[in-house]
Amino acid sequence: MSTMLLDRSHTCGELRKENDGEKVILMGWVDRQRDHGGIIFIDLRDRYGITQVVFNPSAKNVYATGKTLRGEFVIAVKGFVEKRPDDMLNDSLATGHIEVVAEEVEILNVAKTPPFEIADNVDVSEEIRLKYRYLDMRRTAMQRNLILRHRMAQITRQFFDENSFIEIETPMLMRSTPEGARDYLVPSRVHHGKFYALPQSPQTYKQLLMVAGFDRYFQIVKCFRDEDLRADRQPEFTQIDVEMSFVNQEHIFRLVEELMVRYMDEILGIKLELPIQRMTYAKAMELYGSDKPDLRFGLAMVELNDLVESCDFRVFVDCVKNGGAVKGISVPGAAKYSRKQQDDLIELAKQLGAKGLVPVKVGDNDWQSNLNKFFDEDTRKQIIDRMQASNGDLLLIVADNREMTNEVLGNLRLKIAQDEGLIKEDNFALLWVTDFPLLEFDTEEERYVARHHPFTSPSDEDLHLLESAPGDVRAKAYDLVLNGTEIAGGSIRIFKKDMQQKMFKLLNISDEEAYSKFGFLMDAFEYGAPPHGGIAFGFDRMAMLFAGRKSIRDVIAFPKTSSAISLMDGAPSPVGSKQLKELGVKLAR
Ligand code: AMO
Repeated sequence: MSTMLLDRSHTCGELRKENDGEKVILMGWVDRQRDHGGIIFIDLRDRYGITQVVFNPSAKNVYATGKTLRGEFVIAVKGFVEKRPDDMLNDSLATGHIEVVAEEVEILNVAKTPPFEIADNVDVSEEIRLKYRYLDMRRTAMQRNLILRHRMAQITRQFFDENSFIEIETPMLMRSTPEGARDYLVPSRVHHGKFYALPQSPQTYKQLLMVAGFDRYFQIVKCFRDEDLRADRQPEFTQIDVEMSFVNQEHIFRLVEELMVRYMDEILGIKLELPIQRMTYAKAMELYGSDKPDLRFGLAMVELNDLVESCDFRVFVDCVKNGGAVKGISVPGAAKYSRKQQDDLIELAKQLGAKGLVPVKVGDNDWQSNLNKFFDEDTRKQIIDRMQASNGDLLLIVADNREMTNEVLGNLRLKIAQDEGLIKEDNFALLWVTDFPLLEFDTEEERYVARHHPFTSPSDEDLHLLESAPGDVRAKAYDLVLNGTEIAGGSIRIFKKDMQQKMFKLLNISDEEAYSKFGFLMDAFEYGAPPHGGIAFGFDRMAMLFAGRKSIRDVIAFPKTSSAISLMDGAPSPVGSKQLKELGVKLAR
């Protein structure tokens, strides 16, 4: 091979008209070849951009090679930079004011015709993209996403370093201590019948690092959860994991808010106003039926119980009498919805679990509905007023038990916002959701489970309820929500052994079980554990939102499908009997 190989002078995104006349050597992939009979143009591509290379027939050998080039061939070109004539300038390309006239060319590698064109906006299924991920990632859009992710990682490291945090790695092979999702297990070859688990998060380790006195810890770390996958969930994903000693919730919020300012500024060029809005979990559920409300649009729910409890509409009256909730949202301008559109919404509400949905059109200061007869005029007007509705709006009212009403209207709210284009895609709405319940009743297991994790501290004001009404106890737990996606979650921790024991008891975890699973943490609490708390960000989710994507797969180099398969390398795969035997593992079938 020629010496050209070792001597790339510029990237394909670098040359400008100021380089006119310079001798250069470029390397990259053939993006496009255009043969204009007599003259050949090659768009040469690399990560940095595209440069047009010209092959003139006067340079015979070079021209002959130029003719053989095909898309995705890897080539090296030696030539000189030439300013383009004024009528040939291409302002949409950073290098669009020059071209490189080829004097030598070398094919470094040939390429088969790829299964899809390497271009943005090509219509290709995600399966094919994932199977040929290395080709998919040649596309500018994917490169942009992964470069953005890289920038975020650099900003993160710099920010935490500036703030005296220490990055410490924690084990990938740990003890199985389920945190909520199922563990991925790794059988031990040395100790047959025993398993390591891959961490669902480094939660216990980071708490131990606080006991060790590191004071401020962070880590950009892979976590593994064997759970049902969605667009914003992967079986292995990345967290920015943070823990701090001698802090309360306010300290953590302040730090995180400064980090968000940094991301917004450096990634998106947006000046974020502080403080970030806060809302309690209870209020978020009441207003938006969600613990991660999207605040880029309104459509908040309004409670109507007191207005309808003595009307003539049985469904509403009975609902209030039985302790349920009659609530509605007012959709601006939607009185124009056809019968069919309204029926579809009713059907959707039923699919979501509601007994029904009552749509009411608002006319000139009154309802336009065949239900008018069940409500006196004053009530109809009060409902319009409370829902801040006006002529042409459509009220959607649900009467059910409170959880169901909240959930159904919360879902309808999202669907309608999407259908009606109420979401401004370039808005970024951040929200702290605070005061989560400590526990949640698991009807299958018939016991309380930790809503965040078992190390989360109950709120001081609710300590007296721990035994009498555990379901009402709030936690020192918080989530950060961006545009309706939970991007971070954390809590102030329990740091005393007796409280941690009490918590395990509430969760119906016996002393033996607690000791066998978490004994190391309980022991550590006996050697001077400082008060501490922290948070973990879903790094992939944040990158997805900053990149304006709808799936975290778009910001992960080698993601799994929604059924946890890697289409490129075929994981998971069967293994041979020898390997299984070594591990002492026998398959059940
Ligand atoms: P939590 O379980 O809330 O907290 O996780 C923190 C954040 O991680 C992201 N996340 C995920 N992202 C992609 N795929 C998944 N399967 C997935 N699961 C979670 C979310 C979430 O907000 N140890 C605690 C943190 C703490 O208390 O400090 C924890 O892991 O964005």
